[in-house]
Amino acid sequence: MKLEFSNLDVDILQISKEAKKAKSNDPYVINATLGVLLDDNGQLLEFKAVKEALLDIDMVVAKNYLPQDGGALYKNSLQQYLFKSKVDEVLDKYHLASTWTSGGSGALYMAFKYDGAKRILLPNIRWNEYDQIVGAVNKEIGTYNLLKNGAFDLESLKTEMINQDESVLVVINDPCQNPTGYVMSLAEHEALAKLINEQSNTKKISLLLDVAYLDYSSEPYFEFLLPILEIYHSNVDIYIAFSGSKSFGVYGFRMGALLYLNENETKVTLFEQKVKRFAGAIYGAPNSISVQLLNEVIHKASLEDEQEQARHLINSRANKFMGLCLEEKINFYTYINGFFVTVKTKEPLKLTEALKQYKVYVVPTFEGVRIALSSINLLEIERLITSLKKVIDE
Ligand SMILES: Cc1ncc(COP(=O)(O)O)c(C=O)c1O
Repeated sequence: MKLEFSNLDVDILQISKEAKKAKSNDPYVINATLGVLLDDNGQLLEFKAVKEALLDIDMVVAKNYLPQDGGALYKNSLQQYLFKSKVDEVLDKYHLASTWTSGGSGALYMAFKYDGAKRILLPNIRWNEYDQIVGAVNKEIGTYNLLKNGAFDLESLKTEMINQDESVLVVINDPCQNPTGYVMSLAEHEALAKLINEQSNTKKISLLLDVAYLDYSSEPYFEFLLPILEIYHSNVDIYIAFSGSKSFGVYGFRMGALLYLNENETKVTLFEQKVKRFAGAIYGAPNSISVQLLNEVIHKASLEDEQEQARHLINSRANKFMGLCLEEKINFYTYINGFFVTVKTKEPLKLTEALKQYKVYVVPTFEGVRIALSSINLLEIERLITSLKKVIDE
């Protein structure tokens, strides 16, 4: 029996609030709901590079209005940070526009609003906030199956695209998909690019890459992906939703950007002009601390090593989690990297509730429960698996 599940019924902030309250009354509670990276003592993981960069912030600039797109230096910092050694290649091939947004969430909102598509194609297992954002811009959701036999289900996406008469915006949350931790291979990206090109011969297709977790995959993401980006035909609009929240552990500063790449300069100029008007109407001006922070932090010597250590921390938790799941025969979706892993269940709401009796808090998702490896330590992982096993066997 398949139970109905709606992302709109899941209020992650409310669930996290309940879990935090329970933990403040009882430290034994396991709060695996939080999409933030905590150290093994449950404190927000702090990057020394960020601490140093914050000291460089000019408070006079911070108090002033910045240009709506974040300014030329922010644009340049984004390009350097995302494309690294490939930045010149990207700029040779594309015209590129970008605008500051309120985190990755703001970038998604801006892309969904700006793009001409009425329908946004999302994976069935997804970050539940997508549904709220699509609703906020009055568009429709189309759903494709994310994984089949443990790998990206391209056929499902193809069927979904073929079934649409109208233009569509395809959302790919990669690498380290929330909530599964799946990372697409280069071959899967190549097949996706070919499919989108083929479909774009008969209808308007846009692609949005939500790279909120880009620094948690093992490869420098855009250096890895650039040969594939180059395959896309120029009639495919490509957006990149950047979030600094997870990359630098600064969730509250709302560091984000929407980038738009195209070979056609007129289209890029139109994006710049239109998005500027939206930004002015929605939030006025950027958070100037987040802008200055990105401009400074990317030059800090310790950043790369610290990000490597953060990846290492999560990988050690993931290895422990997956090892225990295999021992206990607990099924989970293919996990490769990232903050979350998702245990399979046909009854996510029931499993979420049942775990609370063992003082374990998780987030229900489509045919699964999401567990934030980012916010629990190795001992908590052991206890969480014991509780999961008990509930599954009950
Ligand atoms: C898949 C995904 N995209 C985007 C975001 C946006 O993050 P923020 O708005 O905090 O930058 C998140 C945050 O949890 C996410 O999980």
